[in-house]
Amino acid sequence: MDISIARLEAWMRDYYHKVDHDIGSSGVRDLSMAEFQSLCGFDLSELGSMVFHDSESYGGARLRAALADRWAGGDTGRMMVTHGSSEAIYLVMHLAVAPGDEVIVLDPAYQQLYDVAAWRGCRITRWRLNHDEGFAVDLAELRRLARSRPRMIVVNFPHNPTGVSITAEQQRELVEIAAEAGAWLVWDHAFGELTYASDPLPLPARWYDRCIAWGTFSKSYGLAGLRVGWCLAPPELLARMALLRDYIALYVSPVLEFLAEQAVRNADRIVARQREHALGNLRVLTGWADRLPGLVRFTPPDGGVSAFLRFPHQRDVTLSCRRLAERHRVLLVPGSCFGDAYHQYARLGFGGTSAELTAGLSCLEQVLREDAETVVPHG
Ligand SMILES: Cc1ncc(COP(=O)(O)O)c(C=O)c1O
Repeated sequence: MDISIARLEAWMRDYYHKVDHDIGSSGVRDLSMAEFQSLCGFDLSELGSMVFHDSESYGGARLRAALADRWAGGDTGRMMVTHGSSEAIYLVMHLAVAPGDEVIVLDPAYQQLYDVAAWRGCRITRWRLNHDEGFAVDLAELRRLARSRPRMIVVNFPHNPTGVSITAEQQRELVEIAAEAGAWLVWDHAFGELTYASDPLPLPARWYDRCIAWGTFSKSYGLAGLRVGWCLAPPELLARMALLRDYIALYVSPVLEFLAEQAVRNADRIVARQREHALGNLRVLTGWADRLPGLVRFTPPDGGVSAFLRFPHQRDVTLSCRRLAERHRVLLVPGSCFGDAYHQYARLGFGGTSAELTAGLSCLEQVLREDAETVVPHG
């Protein structure tokens, strides 16, 4: 079996670098190096004394310690530095599951969260968010699905693409379900630090030892181009991941690790700045969607900077998204990138600059109005 094309990444390859206004990405506004330095209080001249040595298999000691302080109660033995969380996903899905194992994954989901395992011959079971009720999670349904004792349950809250999250109580129940099944619980924390109505959830690894968590600098920090992430997992699993990585990338560059360490040590300040910016944009998006109830169905996100909009007039949003990119130079991501059930949806990212959000929404409205004149509503 060949690995499937990663649809979202393929879409980004086609359009990300060819648009003026990005209202499709899932990360917050990218920082400039100057902004990053001033937020963190370091100077690039500090790199002058750096010698281009190899770094370490599990990550350079300083960055690993900083990450462990933030996420693992100081226990560096459970922390690995990775090339974005993408590398963590790839390594974990090769080593924590085997062909024939069942993996339960939230649906919709970021494709890499299930398709590496599917490629390796795992059985993928979907745990669907409830579309009719603002993408609410149904834990009773998960409990029912987990009776088959899956090898792994994969979740991501706040969730890409809908932005929904769960409460602390629901998180405890989720862990209980994984524990009863004896399953790995994969907790994708990509957007975990950026929440609106409630505080960020803790990592379940604090009280469940079969939890694997990963995170990234790409989403809530505005440092996507850094390509650094982390993985928190039991030391035995990390040891096997290091062996597999010996065939891929060996280790993360010490230059990137220097910058990532600055980011972790100043994470609260960076995230607070980005959160304030994202909240302003969320208000703009909410006002826009409220004005267009016939054209757009909008569930306000609990966190992250993406929302999954439904367009009741459209049978397949993909063509409109192409028109938006090719004629208006605006990036929006069609729901089909998240699975065949989502042709009426699109992921809207509101983390970019306020100017590009306003310009992008205005072009999107124009395209939706044109389409509404030519098609009959569905559902
Ligand atoms: C839920 C989720 N996890 C992980 C990733 C991987 O991101 P990165 O490799 O930049 O850390 C993404 C990227 O979009 C994502 O949406």
